[in-house]
Amino acid sequence: MEKDIKNILITEDEITAKVKELGEQISNDYKNEDLILVGVLKGANVFMGDLMRKIKKSIEIDFISVTSYGASTKSSGVVRILKDLDIEIENKNVIIVEDIVDTGLTLNYLLKNFRSRNPKSLKICTLLDKPERREVDILIDYKGFSIPDVFIVGYGIDYAEGYRNLPYVATLKEKVYE
Ligand code: IMP
Ligand code: MG
Repeated sequence: MEKDIKNILITEDEITAKVKELGEQISNDYKNEDLILVGVLKGANVFMGDLMRKIKKSIEIDFISVTSYGASTKSSGVVRILKDLDIEIENKNVIIVEDIVDTGLTLNYLLKNFRSRNPKSLKICTLLDKPERREVDILIDYKGFSIPDVFIVGYGIDYAEGYRNLPYVATLKEKVYE
């Protein structure tokens, strides 16, 4: 796995510090409010696990699973729910937790879908943002890092379902895609 890494973009320590910061912001913003964190599977799994433990209040969590890139590095623009929420979000404060916002198509779909369930409020928290690739405008409320238009893996994020368990965010050597 390590032999396929070209360049580490964000180290484990940098991620830890940022996640702590985001957790503190969220704890502060929802001090006297209920809160449901919704992680987008599978990519946000690792971020979600770390982030929720930095939130110093009682919260609920849920997960939603949508189709993503599969083995390709290009977005299809097709979003389909594979696993829906288990809990009701009507009249609740919700934060969608994403691994990375790229074209914005996935979140655009999720925002519309979640709004139709009438939450009290709806915000977005993403570890990574690739602003150069955006196709639809998305307001990101909590953001970890902006990165350039490069394909990355690690910290939950995959290439062909691999590399999710790397503790950092990195690019892969070209030969991996051949
Ligand atoms: P969007 O709909 O184009 O914003 O894509 C969002 C999803 O695409 C993310 O949640 C990731 O699962 C996937 N994705 C986007 N960029 C990358 C990348 O650089 N590496 C791996 N997956 C990515
Ligand atoms: Mg994802």
